[in-house]
Amino acid sequence: MDDPAKPALKRVFIETYGCQMNVYDSERMRDVLAPLGYAVAPKPDDADLVILNTCHIREKATEKVYSEIGRLRVHKERRAGEGKTTTIAIAGCVAQAEGEEILRRAPAVDLVVGPQAYHRLPELIARAARKTGDRLAADFTAQGKFDALPARAPDGVTAFLSVQEGCDKFCTFCVVPYTRGAEFSRPAADVLAEAQALVDRGVREITLLGQNVNAYHSEGGDGLAGLLERLARIPELARLRYMTSHPLEVTQDLISLHGAEPKLMPFLHLPVQSGSDRILKAMNRKHDVVHYHDIVARLRRARPDIALSTDFIVGFPGESDQDFEATMELAREVGFASAFSFKYSPRPGTPAALMHGQVGDSVKSERLARLQELLGGQQRAFNAGKIGLSLPVLVTGKGRVAGQKHGRTPYLQSVHFADETARDGDIVSLRIKAASQNSLTGERAAQEAA
Ligand code: SAH
Ligand code: SF4
Ligand code: F3S
Repeated sequence: MDDPAKPALKRVFIETYGCQMNVYDSERMRDVLAPLGYAVAPKPDDADLVILNTCHIREKATEKVYSEIGRLRVHKERRAGEGKTTTIAIAGCVAQAEGEEILRRAPAVDLVVGPQAYHRLPELIARAARKTGDRLAADFTAQGKFDALPARAPDGVTAFLSVQEGCDKFCTFCVVPYTRGAEFSRPAADVLAEAQALVDRGVREITLLGQNVNAYHSEGGDGLAGLLERLARIPELARLRYMTSHPLEVTQDLISLHGAEPKLMPFLHLPVQSGSDRILKAMNRKHDVVHYHDIVARLRRARPDIALSTDFIVGFPGESDQDFEATMELAREVGFASAFSFKYSPRPGTPAALMHGQVGDSVKSERLARLQELLGGQQRAFNAGKIGLSLPVLVTGKGRVAGQKHGRTPYLQSVHFADETARDGDIVSLRIKAASQNSLTGERAAQEAA
């Protein structure tokens, strides 16, 4: 056995797929493994432990896992020839959904660990090395995971913080309620302590995460708005965001807070999925188009410059040309700063996979192309609309080009600017000079540069 006081140096490579929850979880896995002597490897080739943190949301995401395991097996065999052991662990939502099948289909995999069992990684790895005990850990007790995870070690001035996990909404297309379990909110005190610890280590902007983050409720009954208000009182914390929200849980408190709390950034990701009431009903979204427009109108009254982003699915079973045109119409009416759009992907075990009227792939592709063209144009227009304005930009790191810095506007846009002196974590005023679909170029405002 390794002496726990003097751990041997080992290397872990973590590949992250899917949503921000997985990004957060990957960081936490890295934190759990650090005390065991695991340093982060930049590539899987020479890692002692490889973790694939997987996503099950669409078929393509799941397929990737199996092809990646194939590649890892080659490394594992090569390393075995050199007398080295490689542990392959599959984490995340595919692990939760298909744990047994992974172990059957891919013998190179040593360990399967679902999203609620990451705090058990050290024990599971030790057992895998000795080839004793379970190779599958897919229990469903979210609190255990959060209680047992160690302090955070953020590596930048922005950080994710999970406050809510799981989903009880059961949209008919979606696997998340099955892979992440029932809705669970962390106690507010734990969230505040984790936020304070992040801020103490230099974090200036925190994004609260949850599958339905605005379904958050603390033990005292406070909702997300209450939690955000308490977090905003941390003096050195400059910016707050949250994602992903469900239209059904957008409360007037939250909308009002967007108008009242300057630390709450004017950006909201609010997935709508479709602009057709008929399809929204078949999706079991529990909101209609009028409700969505009403939220948007109230948000814009509270905070006129708020940037909105969304998710769309095209080609849901039964979606007619007319339904799709209604989606185009909703996008035109709202005007999004950014958006994700996907072809419907039938997922095993979900009701929509068995619905009549599955839409052919060529129709899905055509619809997706048209929608993405519209949304791309909206994103370019939103970014171009900032040219000539001075915006407060949080400096987040080095740019791609030497001497350049990178930062983030309140609207979650990336900005590049030439400035050697700006320090990470500073909020600088930049005049926006140019814009493309994915980023802005800025310069220090004259009075500041002096
Ligand atoms: N909790 C979030 C979404 C999580 S999944 C919400 O309710 O909005 C992220 C996005 O993936 C969804 O918004 C949806 O647009 C897309 N998605 C989920 N299941 C899908 C499927 N079966 N096929 C295609 N896209 C899907
Ligand atoms: Fe999936 Fe719907 Fe839950 Fe979002 S609200 S995670 S889309 S079931
Ligand atoms: Fe994918 Fe799981 Fe997130 S299915 S989108 S990684 S919650």
